[in-house]
Order: sequence, then structure tokens, then C-alpha cells
Amino acid sequence: MLLEDSPYRELRYRGETQPTLREFAPERVVQLSSFSKLIGPGPRLGYAIGPKNLLREIATVAENTYITPGLLAHGSVYEFCRAGHLEPQIDRLKKLYAPRLQATLDALDKYLPETKPTRPDGGFFLSLTLPKGVSIIDVMDRAAEVELILADGRGFFANGGGEHFLRIPFCALTKHQISEGVARLAEVVQN
Ligand SMILES: Cc1ncc(COP(=O)(O)O)c(C=O)c1O
Repeated sequence: MLLEDSPYRELRYRGETQPTLREFAPERVVQLSSFSKLIGPGPRLGYAIGPKNLLREIATVAENTYITPGLLAHGSVYEFCRAGHLEPQIDRLKKLYAPRLQATLDALDKYLPETKPTRPDGGFFLSLTLPKGVSIIDVMDRAAEVELILADGRGFFANGGGEHFLRIPFCALTKHQISEGVARLAEVVQN
């Protein structure tokens, strides 16, 4: 079985929609997503799409583990979707986030051209590889001194590594904050 963890799939800002893994092998894939990405961070509610019997078993394990899910979140999200708000909300988020992704890429090209960031077509993050000899631990400490809080890249690698990996989130920031943040990052990385 494959677990397809794809909470950002609906948040595509450019390019063509790509098929899901589940479409290729519906009996062998469980696809996960999250309303905390598609509506907002408040509901903390995810969902799974997959073979019916398997989902029933997963629901039983879940029930035996935490007794009951957050019913208030379930009810709110259900009503939100039933009222037809989900599609317009996704469109609104895409319009809000697309220029922020572009602003992040522009700022990286301007201030940190040597880092070659990924250029994603959607989602909340892009990532970059720090130049040789510059470690994430050092960059994190010095970035904190200029009030730039970075995630530890090592946390994204299950089997070690990530010392040069930096994930850059852009969705919650204005274009001005993005430019300022990347300029501060460049100062830290280059000096
Ligand atoms: C790839 C991925 N999967 C799953 C999640 C979990 O989403 P949540 O806990 O917000 O429902 C996240 C959250 O950041 C994520 O980035």
C-alpha cells in the first residue's frame, strides 16, 4: 500500500493539474489531505480517500485510540462545504498565495542567487540547499538574532542528513515581509 500525503494538491498556482497516485492504483493507495490547508489552520481536520474496507478499519483504530474526533471541527467543516464555500475559498487562497510564491522566488533570485531554490507550482513552501560549508544549525542561530525564525532542515530527513536543507514558507507573509526576510537570510548566509 502507498500513503499519498497531498494536502497542497488543490493549491496549484500555475501549470496543469497532475493525476494523483490514487488514480493510477485506487486499490493500493490511500490519499490524505487537510482542511487546515484548504480552509484555514483553525479546524485541524484532515481526510483520507481510499478503499472502503480499509478506511473502515482505520476508522476503528482511530476510534479505539482517541475515542472521538473533534466533532465541532467536523460539524463546522461539513456546514462550510455544504454551503458551497470550499471552491471559492480555494480560489481565494490561490489568488492570495500565488503572488507570494513569486515574490519569494524573485527575492531569492535577487539576494541569494547562488542557492538554486526549488520552483514549485503550488503549495506553502519552497526549499533550497545552503552553499557548501554553511550549515543549517549555524544559519538558524544567527538568523534568530535578526528575528528570522527558521525550521531545522534536519527534521525533514528520516535517516539523517538535511544539514544544508532549508524550507521556506511564504503563505502567511506579505510581499514586503518576504523581501525583508529573504534579505536578512542572505545577510546571514553570505557573512
Ligand atoms: C505534507 C504535509 N502533510 C500533512 C500535514 C498535516 O496537516 P494538518 O496537521 O495541518 O492537518 C502537513 C502540515 O504542515 C504537511 O505539510
